[in-house]
Amino acid sequence: MADRSARLRVRRGTSKRAGRFDEFEVAYEDGMSVLDALRWIRANLDSTLAIRYSCINANACKTCMARVNGKVEYTCMVKLTPGVITVEPLPKRPLIRDLVTDIVPEEEKLEISRKQRA
Ligand code: FES
Repeated sequence: MADRSARLRVRRGTSKRAGRFDEFEVAYEDGMSVLDALRWIRANLDSTLAIRYSCINANACKTCMARVNGKVEYTCMVKLTPGVITVEPLPKRPLIRDLVTDIVPEEEKLEISRKQRA
C-alpha cells in the first residue's frame, strides 16, 4: 500500500524554449523509481505523456535517460523521494516531445530517413 507521495514536475511540449511544466502527485511505496511514477502518470492521469523506456528496471537498455533534479540519470534507477522531483528531457539531444529526445547517432540513422528529410 502506497504511503508516501511525490510531486513530479515534468517538462512538456515539443520545443525546449516554449515548453511548460506539468505537475503530478504520485503516491508511491519505498523502492519505486521515477520511471515507475512516469509510467503510472501515463496510465492513470495523462496518456499523452511521451516517455521512452524498454527494460523498465534492469539498467540494460539505456533508453530511459532524462534529467532528474538537474542531473542526467536513468529514470528507472532513481528512487522516488517525498517532495518535488523535476524531470526534463536530455539537454544536449534534439527534443522530439516531452521527455523523448532523438538519441540515435546521425551515422546510425536509416538511409531512407535522410532521403525523406532532404
Ligand atoms: S528502462 Fe532500461 S535502463 Fe532504464
